[in-house]
Amino acid sequence: MKTTTIRDVAKAAGVHPSTVSRVINGNTNISQDTVNKVLTVIKELNYVPNALARGLKTNKLHTFGMLIPDIANPFFAGLARGVENAANEHGYNVILCNTDYSLEKEITYLRLLEERRVEGLILANAKFQYKSIIELEKRRLPYMLLSRNIKGLQKNSISIDNIAGGFLATQYLIRLGHKKIGHIAGPYNTNATMDRIKGYKKALQYYGISFDKQYLSRGDFKSRGGYHIMNNYLKFDDPPTAIFTANDLLAVGVLEAIKEKGYNVPHDFSIVGFDDIQLASHLSPPLTTIRQPMLDMGYLAIIKLLERIEKQISHENIFLKPELIERKSCSKYQKVK
Ligand code: RIB
Repeated sequence: MKTTTIRDVAKAAGVHPSTVSRVINGNTNISQDTVNKVLTVIKELNYVPNALARGLKTNKLHTFGMLIPDIANPFFAGLARGVENAANEHGYNVILCNTDYSLEKEITYLRLLEERRVEGLILANAKFQYKSIIELEKRRLPYMLLSRNIKGLQKNSISIDNIAGGFLATQYLIRLGHKKIGHIAGPYNTNATMDRIKGYKKALQYYGISFDKQYLSRGDFKSRGGYHIMNNYLKFDDPPTAIFTANDLLAVGVLEAIKEKGYNVPHDFSIVGFDDIQLASHLSPPLTTIRQPMLDMGYLAIIKLLERIEKQISHENIFLKPELIERKSCSKYQKVK
């Protein structure tokens, strides 16, 4: 079947192809009658404008780029969904790139997205370097950091208050009577990890519990990592009685390791996660966790990006308040283990 072209539309509407193009691009310098006529023909002929050709003229493809480390982590799937919803509502598409926590991939994707003439970027990737942000600013490409901050450069960002989140999780376990509290952190090259550790240590200090470095482990934000670290804790003469994991996927692995050895959660060990991915409420037992409103965060990132593009709103950092979601994975400390 022959595809309808801009010339077909022009012919049927009795105007020049450049007029059709001006109508499509929202040019206001055309009479309302002509606009209506062209739009009616576009509808009748089912004409789909070629976005690329249109972009070449307007220099705009109505596309944003989004970098995330790994869509397999439901947290990022949630963020991406929120981003896409808001972008679509405002007439934009999103190109999504998984960086696998690799700096090389991040740099390659950034170049590629710029070549695709994206109008803005949502950066939820892990290892973003200061230098690249400076480059983006030089080229005046608007961006928002989502769930990420860069050390020494806190601007255009939306994230949860990770220190408060770490504090909340640890405080909850302390109030249940636990004193030996393990923390399985994320990779040390992300701010989210370091801030959650700060919150954990802050709560210990606040409640007069001394920090024991054997209870702090560096994880990878993945369930396998949680599984191995928990197995290691279980070999200790004096294992922690409660564990705060830096995300829910780590908690999935922790639960698996505990069950495999025949122990019970929450009777033998209490666990608090971070994120509140959908799976958290379906685990056995359902996981107590610190909630990050992923969909809302993604949505807000686009709204703020659009504000930057359209109204040149200057730098702004938004820190959302974390919320403790109490489920069934924690119980009061019981002396005999
Ligand atoms: O990079 C993975 C983690 O960082 C997520 O699970 C979420 O907690 C984010 O902040």
